[in-house]
Amino acid sequence: MAKARTAYVCSQCGSEHSKWQGQCADCGAWNTLGAFVVEPAQTPAARRGSYAGAAAGAPRITPLASVALAQEARTSIGIGELDRVLGGGLVEGSVVLVGGDPGIGKSTLLLQMLGALGTRLSSLYVSGEESLAQVAARAQRLGLALDPLRGLAETCIERILEHAAAERPRVLVVDSIQTIWTELLTAAPGSVSQVRESAARLTRYAKETGSGVFLVGHVTKEGGIAGPRVLEHMVDAVLYFEGEAGSRFRVLRAFKNRFGAVNELGVFAMSDKGLREVPNPSAIFLSAHSEPTPGSAVMVTREGTRPLLVEVQALVDASPLANPRRVALGLEQNRLAMLLAVLHRHGGAAVYDQDVFVNVVGGIRVQETAADLPVLLAVLSSFRNRALPDKTIAFGEVGLSGEIRPVPNGEERLKEAATHGFVRAIVPRANAPKKGRIGNLEVIAVDRLGDALAAG
Ligand code: TYD
Ligand code: MG
Repeated sequence: MAKARTAYVCSQCGSEHSKWQGQCADCGAWNTLGAFVVEPAQTPAARRGSYAGAAAGAPRITPLASVALAQEARTSIGIGELDRVLGGGLVEGSVVLVGGDPGIGKSTLLLQMLGALGTRLSSLYVSGEESLAQVAARAQRLGLALDPLRGLAETCIERILEHAAAERPRVLVVDSIQTIWTELLTAAPGSVSQVRESAARLTRYAKETGSGVFLVGHVTKEGGIAGPRVLEHMVDAVLYFEGEAGSRFRVLRAFKNRFGAVNELGVFAMSDKGLREVPNPSAIFLSAHSEPTPGSAVMVTREGTRPLLVEVQALVDASPLANPRRVALGLEQNRLAMLLAVLHRHGGAAVYDQDVFVNVVGGIRVQETAADLPVLLAVLSSFRNRALPDKTIAFGEVGLSGEIRPVPNGEERLKEAATHGFVRAIVPRANAPKKGRIGNLEVIAVDRLGDALAAG
């Protein structure tokens, strides 16, 4: 029989190499290869043997029409914001990876989830980080009914799967995947190969048994989930927990979801009784200014399927440095550099000798290009030390030639702004309502950056 061989797997791109190298030949990253044991390939004879068993329950070709309806059995968890991010509830046999900074509330949320499921779905909470006493104490503090909750303090995947096979939980939580290891490998727990293999075993378990599996993942300094990128490809959904240190609010974002919209947001507030849902989150990402302040602009973002009012703040200040600083919190850094170049070229404001800091209030991350225009309005407002008119919102993508491009769902964003008492909106021309008014919102439709800045 062929022996198991060792392969070296890149933690960035997941590609396999037969020898260890300092640099991954596929993606060019340095020091990312880790050892990994590969099961021996089956011999052709053995393979033919397994095909011979096709009649007895092995996979076979099936018309999709006959499977489509049976699939996607969803269970509502009973925590509305979590159901929303999952795309409408927990799907049978799905694997969900939950990432986020330490202490943001991953363990708390998943424990609350099991509590909310209660006796409706049997569950098992596998803790590799905390003792069961700690988990139980937390469950008690969260006010959960303890009876239906079962815990297991274990980190060896073989033993976890043994217990799971005996207990047959419908929902399995593994906290965290970085602590889990397999006997097949000699690498330390948390290493790329251990994480990849353990996650693969748990994924297989989910698909075979139809149980929902939740994996908690640690986040690296760069903000990705620690371990191989393939982890994100393996699972059905990747949820990121975001939030500002010191802020009560936590945002759960679907970064990938095979069963729902990506970028869907769920908003929670951390309280002494755990995470509470914030079902109408629009107003929490606005800071409470009593009067208009320079450097602040309000935008309507639409991440996922609901619009949100979000404040963007900028501070522009003369820089003592040869290379002035450009700092973007909650936005992409490169996008900011590009926008500042467009501002100079097409808006006539030169900030090359200024430090520019931009921050999205509330620790939320805005990824859509609709933030371009509000960012530039905030930057210019701070640069000129002149506040934008009161009760004004803006959104729109800014192109390299200074044109303002439309963004999806313009009307829905305007309605959200009107509902929250805003009276002016600076928006791309194609996003202005074709007929009629939205509330008492005065819509200023703009084509070029120059027009938009003049309106602000
Ligand atoms: P935790 O869920 O342990 O985070 P993670 O698993 O992501 O590392 O985070 C808990 C944090 O939240 C911790 O700092 C304490 C705080 N907390 C509360 O404020 N209220 C509560 O009811 C609980 C359980 C935790
Ligand atoms: Mg934890």
